[in-house]
Amino acid sequence: MQNFMYKNPTKIIFGKNQITKLFEQIKPYGKNVLLVYGGGSIKKTGLYCSILEELEYFNVYELEGVEPNPRVTTAQKGANLVKEKNIDFILAVGGGSVIDCTKLISAASKYDGDAWDIVIGKHVPKEATPFGTVLTLSATASEMNAGSVITNLETKQKLGWGSPLVYPQFSILDPTLTFTLPRNQTVNGIVDMMSHICEQYFNEVENSDLHDAMMEGVLKQIMIYGPKCLENPKDYEARSIIMMAGTIALNGQLRWGFNGDWASHGLEHAVSAVFDIAHAEGLAMVMPNWMKFVMPNHVAKFKKFAINVFDVETSNKTDEEIALEGINKLQQFWQQIGAPTKLSERNINKEDIPTIVNSIARQIGNMQPLTKEDAAKIYEMSL
Ligand code: NZQ
Ligand code: ZN
Repeated sequence: MQNFMYKNPTKIIFGKNQITKLFEQIKPYGKNVLLVYGGGSIKKTGLYCSILEELEYFNVYELEGVEPNPRVTTAQKGANLVKEKNIDFILAVGGGSVIDCTKLISAASKYDGDAWDIVIGKHVPKEATPFGTVLTLSATASEMNAGSVITNLETKQKLGWGSPLVYPQFSILDPTLTFTLPRNQTVNGIVDMMSHICEQYFNEVENSDLHDAMMEGVLKQIMIYGPKCLENPKDYEARSIIMMAGTIALNGQLRWGFNGDWASHGLEHAVSAVFDIAHAEGLAMVMPNWMKFVMPNHVAKFKKFAINVFDVETSNKTDEEIALEGINKLQQFWQQIGAPTKLSERNINKEDIPTIVNSIARQIGNMQPLTKEDAAKIYEMSL
């Protein structure tokens, strides 16, 4: 275990109709509010009107059209608006993309240079405009962490950055707001939160037994309640459990004392930087193949995963066979719920691999650091 400090200041406000708490939560910050949202789902679902009613007391400015895989240019536009309109508080309403974009708006609004400088670490934020979130898609845990992933179309890069200054002040988690998710977005959320747990399960420390037990439990619950959300999108209990699982999966508490591997996220971010596919689709294609690639060097951990998460039968099998069966079961589960499992399903082919490999900006992999050649092999296995 490495030494660690942990402080997560985000207040979670969970349950039906909790947007009625917006007024009391935002009022201490001031009157000027920037409302940030995506491509229009909140207008279709009626949430936009309900939010505006709750914000009646405030001067509300808006930034609409945050893209899935949010662009640095959109965040820059938001940061300029915050400065121009003297915004006191930002409210993000949406999924991970809207929240991640809001985090960069929050930090870039207190910086005179280019927002991209913050993403690449050229500027370390010293101040940020406070913000809160109303979550509409359970997936990333961006609602309770200090990370953000931003795309730069010019440099063809999609990079994560973070700062303790960009934890949301509060996040409203109302499971009913996820009832309207299209099936594929519910699937994406399930894949993403499971992959976050896997990234941390396969980690660089010798003993993570305590965390492993928690992670195995959360993964099993996701595999029980995720399909229930797909069968009945208005199943409140199932949506609640999935919403909590998504937040727990990446709010930092499952990786006390270590980082986790995170190579699959690095591999995926390079794919979606070049092809603009959904993050979780890329993960479903790449992660099981990353597992198959590294498993021979970490057989004991993959065997534990197979037995404790997928109840793999062990008699008359080698450790490698047990380990591989666990990986196959994960891949099958994702396939069964409808996730794409091959890059070719999104028209990504062998000749695209060098471009994708070029987009990998940083060293990836902590349990097993990967070279660019390793990455190319894993993409080939994922075709
Ligand atoms: O844009 P609108 O019209 O709002 O539609 C969105 C979007 O098209 C739609 N949607 C969201 N809530 C809805 C809804 N449609 C109907 N009803 C609702 N209730 O869903 C689509 C996808 O939304 P998006 O926010 O892009 O999805 P997600 O939450 O999966 O976020 C993905 C982004 O987060 C990054 C990913 O790389 C990707 O850019 N990640 C952020 C992380 C973090 N901050 O910690 C970690 C993750 O690993 C991930 O990398
Ligand atoms: Zn993810």
